[in-house]
Amino acid sequence: MKYFDYYNPTRICFGENRVKDINALIPDNAKVLILFGGNSAKKAGTLDEVTNALGKREIILFGGVEANPTYEKMMAAVEIVRKEKIDFMVAVGGGSVIDGTKFVSAAALYQGEPWEIMTTGGKKISKTIPFGSVLTLPATGSEMNCGSVITHKAKHAKLSFMHPGVYPKFSILDPTKTYTLPKNQLANGIVDAFVHIVEQYLTYPTNAMVQDRYAESLLLSLIELAPKVLTDELDYNSRANFMWVATQALNGLIGAGVPQDWATHVIGHELTVRYNIDHARTLAIILPALLTVQQDSKKEKLLQYAKRVWNITKGSDEQIIKACITQTTEFFNSVGIKTSLTDYDINTDEIPEIVNQLKEHGMTALGEHKDIDLKISQRILETAL
Ligand code: NZQ
Ligand code: ZN
Repeated sequence: MKYFDYYNPTRICFGENRVKDINALIPDNAKVLILFGGNSAKKAGTLDEVTNALGKREIILFGGVEANPTYEKMMAAVEIVRKEKIDFMVAVGGGSVIDGTKFVSAAALYQGEPWEIMTTGGKKISKTIPFGSVLTLPATGSEMNCGSVITHKAKHAKLSFMHPGVYPKFSILDPTKTYTLPKNQLANGIVDAFVHIVEQYLTYPTNAMVQDRYAESLLLSLIELAPKVLTDELDYNSRANFMWVATQALNGLIGAGVPQDWATHVIGHELTVRYNIDHARTLAIILPALLTVQQDSKKEKLLQYAKRVWNITKGSDEQIIKACITQTTEFFNSVGIKTSLTDYDINTDEIPEIVNQLKEHGMTALGEHKDIDLKISQRILETAL
């Protein structure tokens, strides 16, 4: 196991009817900006619950945060925060609203042009504005981590930053908030969480027994939960378990002390920027192709994954690896998510352009060994056709 520091200061308030508890978690005299997306939080009544819970505090609402939040939109919130001297924020929504709020948290107090936060990965952040979240979509884990992904529309760039100052102070995880989610968003959440786990697990062995077994238990839980989450019946227990798996998938615990491979996400981000494909759907396209291309360096963990997650033990190593990648693809298909570039009308002649984007964004040494250069990314994209 590698050296690690593990620090996660986010308070999780889990269970039904917890929104009211934010009253005790925000200073009485705080001036609060509430950020939300399109109409879903309003329609479901969650926004009203949040404003009621804040009682007499002065509040300002900021709506319209897009899926894949943009620098352009979030800078409008930064202006409000600066002008109105906001000292606390509440994000009501999925990963996009929470990520957007994290950007505002750092950008409002940033010395310099805030896009630099993204191009430097958050390295120069000194101060942040505190915020909490009310999660409405289990998927990204943003509710309990210090990462954020922002798109610069004009620059055609989707980049991420991390900083300990942007851990949410609290996150409300009420599984009933997922009841209004359409099936395509539930499926996105299942796949996004699955891929987060895989990217911290399927690298090379480092004798990290706890992280491995924990990652496997999260994967097995997701596989068992997927059909239950996607039925028409609203089952509290399935939603509760799904919500907690998605949070645990990316709150730093399974990734502590182990190598990680975020190449699927990085290549996926280029597909979202270029073709506006949902985040999770880009991952379902890239992951099986990446596992295929990188199977030699991932061999031992692929065999472990095959055995412990998919119960595949018969055949040569090569056959076992092929079978577990097929199972992964079939799992994504089973929740209604397609896994080929051609399913999105993206053909061979587009690939050089995607590779060019990776180059422009400096994504030339990816993966747990930093050996995924532009040539290998190209091969991964060709395998994903
Ligand atoms: O905008 P509204 O009307 O709220 O609708 C949203 C949005 O259209 C809707 N929705 C959310 N909760 C709902 C609901 N609809 C009905 N009922 C509810 N309860 O769902 C749509 C998608 O929401 P979004 O927040 O965009 O989805 P998700 O949570 O999947 O977030 C995706 C973003 O997170 C980033 C992605 O890159 C993408 O930009 N990621 C962030 C990460 C992190 N911070 O750690 C890690 C991830 O890998 C990911 O990259
Ligand atoms: Zn993701």
